[in-house]
Amino acid sequence: MVVDEAAAASSTGCSQPEDRRRRTCLNTSSCSPRIFFLTILVLCSVLFILHLVPQPDFLDRASGTEPRTTLAERFGRIVGPFKSDGGDAEIESMAEKLRMSITYHPLKDLCYASSALEGHTWFMSTFNDTNVEGEGQQLRFPSEASQGRVLCIKGRDPYNGTRNHYGVAWPGFLPRNATFREGLTFITNNHYSYDNIWHGLSAMVPFVGWHEKNGCRRPARWVLYHKGEIRNHAAPWLELLFSATFGGPLTIDAFVDGVNNEGPVCFEEAVVMRHNEVGMSSQRRMEAYDLIRCQARRYCNVSVEDRPVVGMTMLLRTGARSFKDDVSVIEIFRKECAKFKDCQLTVAYARNLSVCEQVELLSKTDILVSPHGAQLTNMFLMDRNSSVMEFFPMGWLKLAGYGQYVYHLMASWSGMRHQGVWRDPDGDPCPHPEDNRQCFGFYKSGRIGHNQTYFSEWAGKVLNEVVSMKAADAISKTNASSPVACSCG
Ligand SMILES: *[C@@H]1O[C@H](CO)[C@@H](O)[C@H](O)[C@H]1NC(C)=O
Ligand SMILES: *[C@@H]1O[C@H](CO)[C@@H](O)[C@H](O)[C@H]1NC(C)=O
Ligand SMILES: *[C@@H]1O[C@H](CO)[C@@H](O)[C@H](O)[C@H]1NC(C)=O
Ligand SMILES: *[C@@H]1O[C@H](CO)[C@@H](O)[C@H](O)[C@H]1NC(C)=O
Ligand SMILES: *[C@@H]1O[C@H](CO)[C@@H](O)[C@H](O)[C@H]1NC(C)=O
Ligand SMILES: *[C@@H]1O[C@H](CO)[C@@H](O)[C@H](O)[C@H]1NC(C)=O
Ligand SMILES: *[C@@H]1O[C@H](CO)[C@@H](O)[C@H](O)[C@H]1NC(C)=O
Ligand SMILES: *[C@@H]1O[C@H](CO)[C@@H](O)[C@H](O)[C@H]1NC(C)=O
Repeated sequence: MVVDEAAAASSTGCSQPEDRRRRTCLNTSSCSPRIFFLTILVLCSVLFILHLVPQPDFLDRASGTEPRTTLAERFGRIVGPFKSDGGDAEIESMAEKLRMSITYHPLKDLCYASSALEGHTWFMSTFNDTNVEGEGQQLRFPSEASQGRVLCIKGRDPYNGTRNHYGVAWPGFLPRNATFREGLTFITNNHYSYDNIWHGLSAMVPFVGWHEKNGCRRPARWVLYHKGEIRNHAAPWLELLFSATFGGPLTIDAFVDGVNNEGPVCFEEAVVMRHNEVGMSSQRRMEAYDLIRCQARRYCNVSVEDRPVVGMTMLLRTGARSFKDDVSVIEIFRKECAKFKDCQLTVAYARNLSVCEQVELLSKTDILVSPHGAQLTNMFLMDRNSSVMEFFPMGWLKLAGYGQYVYHLMASWSGMRHQGVWRDPDGDPCPHPEDNRQCFGFYKSGRIGHNQTYFSEWAGKVLNEVVSMKAADAISKTNASSPVACSCG
């Protein structure tokens, strides 16, 4: 896909990004930065001169008793976003120029298709990120980088990000037909999908860090882009957890309601993130996961009163990456758990549980036993320092690349202990041995066998560690389950 886009880009002469930009710019008179700044400079000088030159007396006399209006007042009359009393043609004409000074760029810039995720990325490629200590890389509007201008987006296309556009506009001189969105807007672009809870979470977590460090400010809305294409929903799991985190319904704005289709949507204040968690310090990440966990438990009314001392949970799948023999695998873990009087085993199928049931179950889990798959994203809902045991079908180590380590990453980001993986050494052979890509497609949905000796020893080792850690915790804390206040809300 990306490869095709890169090819498309180079066939339009994009291999030299600067060239293309220059060529595109020749078509629109206002888009060269130099011409743009000259226009602004001239406007400012004219306004300044108007202010300095005293108005001749006869003007006063001619207008009789009408008081002389100051420049600021005259300006004030026309800076209302869309109205003008037409009193001062010259100033109105300048205001109109400011309104028209917006330059639109494609939200997805194919010139950067080959480095779509790097640096300024292909999403809003004319802006570099601002690094704020410990936070996700971000763009803010209005800001110094936007010279005080607000972000405007003409971008309702859900299929083709190059048909969506953005630009910056002077507040008070928004383009004609603009729709103004008040308050704070969170805008995110991701490369995968908001229907996948792991990828959606990665895109949205940095905003939780931002919220915590900016006085727990809540967004009035979210705008979700996927490769520059608008999305109007996220996985229900994400929508619920994020509405719990921000203490209200999650408003996803896809520019459908109350928008004039002839103009852009302009945002009073916008925070844009397009690198997932990149830039966040490990402490900030853990704090963000702590907050989501805390708010989710509160929202779902989770009570920790009847919590087992050591909860071991098998979160199972059906179909792709399920155990071939659930019954035998459950039996192995049941036996190991039974060796500890404080251990309680729970077996559940992720797809059977509502989101709040998942929150509740994971709140009572210290050891999560689960095949590689999206349901593992729930791990951060366990208390910090809880354990994860992960299982893979045959073929993944060789062919799955970096993606197979996402739950190792997630464990370290959210403060869990990843206790390793078991990789099935057996499985059906790939029917296309010469083609790695097709083979991975085949192994991806493989099922997982078991090794009784290995599973028993592994479970025993993890249980021993967790039981002794819990015992040490119990000594250090007199009130183990006293409720902790969330950091926001
Ligand atoms: C963004 O960063 C690059 C590389 O550091 C620099 O060449 C470019 O001028 C910057 N662009 C803006 C708009 O600041
Ligand atoms: C996306 O839109 C652009 C501009 O309208 C067009 O050139 C391109 O072919 C479209 N791409 C796809 C995949 O439809
Ligand atoms: C504003 O919108 C109207 C229709 O809603 C359209 O006729 C007009 O051309 C638009 N003006 C501009 C400047 O886009
Ligand atoms: C949590 O409890 C409150 C008050 O008892 C109730 O209104 C709310 O519906 C409960 N929430 C859930 C998700 O069950
Ligand atoms: C849970 O899901 C499994 C497999 O999808 C199914 O066999 C089982 O009946 C479900 N259990 C409940 C309580 O719904
Ligand atoms: C997690 O474990 C480490 C040491 O293993 C300990 O220092 C830390 O306090 C624990 N964190 C929590 C939240 O219990
Ligand atoms: C099962 O695991 C044990 C312990 O790691 C190992 O010695 C044995 O070879 C494994 N059996 C199979 C069939 O892979
Ligand atoms: C433990 O809980 C009790 C009753 O809830 C409370 O009075 C006491 O202060 C708590 N102790 C600590 C160390 O938090």
